[in-house]
Amino acid sequence: MRILVTGGAGFIGSNFIRQMLAEHPEHEVLNLDSLTYAGNLENLQGLETEPRYAFVRGDICDQDLLKGLTFDAIIHFAAESHVDRSILDSSPFLQTNITGTKNLLELARARRCRMLHVSTDEVYGSIAEGQFTEMSPLSPNSPYAASKASSDLFARAYHETYGVDVVITRCSNNYGPYQFPEKLIPLMIANALAGKSLPVYGDGKNVRDWIHVADHCRAVALAFHKGRAGEVYNIGGRNEQQNIGIIRMILETISERLGSDREALMGLITYVTDRPGHDRRYAIDPLKTESELGWKPLVGFEEGIASTVDWYLANRAWWGRILSGEYMTYYETQYRQRLGS
Ligand code: NAD
Ligand code: DAU
Repeated sequence: MRILVTGGAGFIGSNFIRQMLAEHPEHEVLNLDSLTYAGNLENLQGLETEPRYAFVRGDICDQDLLKGLTFDAIIHFAAESHVDRSILDSSPFLQTNITGTKNLLELARARRCRMLHVSTDEVYGSIAEGQFTEMSPLSPNSPYAASKASSDLFARAYHETYGVDVVITRCSNNYGPYQFPEKLIPLMIANALAGKSLPVYGDGKNVRDWIHVADHCRAVALAFHKGRAGEVYNIGGRNEQQNIGIIRMILETISERLGSDREALMGLITYVTDRPGHDRRYAIDPLKTESELGWKPLVGFEEGIASTVDWYLANRAWWGRILSGEYMTYYETQYRQRLGS
């Protein structure tokens, strides 16, 4: 089977492609990515000579380009994915996350093929107690979450209206190698290593449900192969953590690895103005995915944080090129100009 993977040059997409090619010799991957600021072909280094892998640079909003592609199924990761950017300017989020997804659904409809839509737990909004199940109402709070909720509902509607073979996954916060250093965990690692302040939004007690990217990717592959059409599958690590606790864990690991002064590292923590509309707590119930697809997360959080810190220590050149702006694209230049940096 030749699978069209969108957004394969980003964080989760690139981890997914490596895993899929390694674990499924029966599949080929066609990676479609427009290479926004978050797309980086370095994430896929080594695959250039793999005969079961091909890359096309292109936008999921370009319908003519989409019509020219040959494939048997779609796994759709491409998105604008950063909440803070969506608060500054939601336009690219509407375009890529909603229009782009709708274009892919049209393509799946025309080709009569399966499409797995990668959604997020942020579509449910914030929850004070208990966990979100697949039946929980959608109540997105940020422009990013609203755009993902919209694309998620379009996916559902295309199944209900046109019978498109759609499967939707909603995953919690991912971490691991190749995550762009503007998201919490890689940002804290990179800033701590550079001796820069660590900006903690609000009181640092917001809770996210963290999962290692390799566990998310295995669940997506299972949902793609075994998921029932029209169904939603929650993916989460049963691992709720406060932001401040994670930051301290990262600093402990760095201090251990480098023998650097623990107190000096802790002194970098700086409480800053809260993110507008900041969701207080996410918690997701993955029972359906566990029981129906036979999935469970394999990477423990402490082990996962330690290996992630090790990865960022060993790959300073990768994130150094991103932070210096050496890799920079047009979109990124505009974003940084808006931030005044
Ligand atoms: P990312 O920002 O690292 O990567 C997104 C990729 O999509 C980039 O390679 C980018 O170039 C590409 N892209 C963006 N717009 C495009 C367009 N118009 N056409 C083609 N390619 C385009 O994101 P990520 O963290 O890897 O997330 C991947 C998916 O998983 C997203 O749909 C996101 O909503 C979802 N998700 C992410 C998390 C998380 O914690 N990161 C959790 C749950 C779900
Ligand atoms: O829950 C799934 C979602 O997780 C995905 O759909 C998104 O694509 C992904 O970006 C992520 O969204 P978050 O907003 O939860 O992730 P982020 O890493 O931006 O922030 C995690 C928490 O850390 C959040 O409570 C905000 C806080 N934070 C973040 C940054 C970047 C800080 O306190 N300081 C920071 O500098």
